[in-house]
Amino acid sequence: RNLRIGLIPGDGIGKEVLTSGRQVLEALQSPSLKFSFLPLSAGWGTFKSTGTALPDSTVDALKAECDAALFGAVSSPSTKVPGYTSPIVALRKKMDLYANVRPVKSVRGVKGPQVDMVIVRENTEDLYVKEERSYDTPEGKVAEAIKRISEKASRRIGKIAFEIAVQRAQVRAANRSEHPTGPMVTITHKSNVLSQSDGLFRESVRAVFDADRTGKGLYSKVNLEEQIVDSMVYKLFRNPEHYDVVVAPNLYGDILSDGAAALVGSLGLVPSANVGDGFVIGEPCHGSAPDIEGLGIANPVATIRSVGTMLEFMGLGEQAARIYQAVDANLEEGKTLSPDLGGKAKTEEVVQDILRRL
Ligand code: NAI
Ligand code: MG
Repeated sequence: RNLRIGLIPGDGIGKEVLTSGRQVLEALQSPSLKFSFLPLSAGWGTFKSTGTALPDSTVDALKAECDAALFGAVSSPSTKVPGYTSPIVALRKKMDLYANVRPVKSVRGVKGPQVDMVIVRENTEDLYVKEERSYDTPEGKVAEAIKRISEKASRRIGKIAFEIAVQRAQVRAANRSEHPTGPMVTITHKSNVLSQSDGLFRESVRAVFDADRTGKGLYSKVNLEEQIVDSMVYKLFRNPEHYDVVVAPNLYGDILSDGAAALVGSLGLVPSANVGDGFVIGEPCHGSAPDIEGLGIANPVATIRSVGTMLEFMGLGEQAARIYQAVDANLEEGKTLSPDLGGKAKTEEVVQDILRRL
């Protein structure tokens, strides 16, 4: 196969870690598998120089020329800047990348809980439709935001969550490894308060499960449970080993995955894939980290693992497994670690150690 990968570095350490992702793809090449790369622009720097954070040319090139893409990170101002909207949020919607799949896994042998979970975050709606308005009242200003939940989006995110639970169970069976409670899908919501919106999310995911049970029964080995999002945070921190696949609306999924990243030691370890029907964008969960930009010490592991997650959704599971094994071996040995993990290694040294193990 000859695969063309769009590279969208973005801002800050996004540029540094995307170089690492490219190096890993180059190292995986063989006579039957070739990668070529197409650099594409998006982000705050792009906004400052062109007036748009996500040029149409980037979206067009992804659709017309690329088989998949890697996204670094972008800097978004926390106050409103006229004309600016987050390019990754826009990209997810424009390419209909409706699932954000975030595997969170501890390193074996390292102290602490042995987390091995995947957060499946809905990626196109909820509060991220960004329909906000504000107005004046006699008592002062009021601001409102729409939280949109649809049956269609909730069903398809539910389906992908169950499929991931089934697939993870198959991989564990093949490796003779076990999960303390899996296969299990945990629905996270707040339908005790938001009975219509979160209620629809909960019911739609449940409906996918129930329909399957009465149909072909592919999910019959998966246990389904649910957790109100605030108690979910409590339980996630008290007993993270319990969780296998967690499915959540957009905002809760965003928050839970940064929290889960803290449990495994660093945001610099957690990958993600933005998945649609027929396209995938790999993306580290972290942001552009302006505090360490340009120092050459960003942890490349989140991006390298995102390459793996991207390849998995492209049907290249074998290559993905090689990447995960090389990363795990680097982390388990613990000699070449970046400063966020307590080490002294530069980004490039971590990459070279992982490439050697590939
Ligand atoms: P952040 O994820 O950039 O950084 C949080 C903390 O984690 C910082 O101390 C940073 O140094 C550290 N960190 C993150 N990734 C790391 C890595 N690979 N290696 C070592 N340390 C790492 O989040 P923050 O500081 O809240 O946001 C910074 C900028 O990033 C903002 O402009 C924000 O809008 C943007 N952002 C972009 C995202 C994206 O592109 N998908 C996601 C989150 C934030
Ligand atoms: Mg986030």
